[in-house]
Amino acid sequence: MSVENPHKIDVSKLDEIIESYGAKKSNLIAILQKVQEVYRYLPEDAMIYIGTKIEGLSPATVFGVATFYAQFSLEPKGKYEIKVCDGTACHVRGSMPVLNAIRAKLSMPEGQLTSENGLFSLETVSCLGACGLAPVVVINDKVYPQMTSDAITIVLDTLMKEEA
Ligand code: FES
Repeated sequence: MSVENPHKIDVSKLDEIIESYGAKKSNLIAILQKVQEVYRYLPEDAMIYIGTKIEGLSPATVFGVATFYAQFSLEPKGKYEIKVCDGTACHVRGSMPVLNAIRAKLSMPEGQLTSENGLFSLETVSCLGACGLAPVVVINDKVYPQMTSDAITIVLDTLMKEEA
């Protein structure tokens, strides 16, 4: 999949997305999902544009919907989206040291969602349904089972080398 510059809003691309679903209020969620797929988050300018383009909506309404649903991100996501499970099984088996190792490796203090170079974003999630593999980390769609601080550091080193 080609990835667009996350800071540049291509209005013709937005028009294309809106047209493909139909410029109706009832299609707002689907439109936002597609926009997020393209930009990896919902840029403010895109929400404003959609809010003015679809009858019966306003930018404030679009913003309100986007903030209501956890699936939408209003901040740019990294090329690699790291999810650290902190459900009970993963927590008990050491997800916090793994999380701290990731933060240390990527120089991301608590509260920072995306690394300075924009490559990695980090979040904790509740049970991913793979408790037998705890502690679990998912990077994009790939599941990394039974992670340790050392193991995740090696995984991140490998990804960083690929990007160097
Ligand atoms: S608690 Fe982590 S997968 Fe279930």
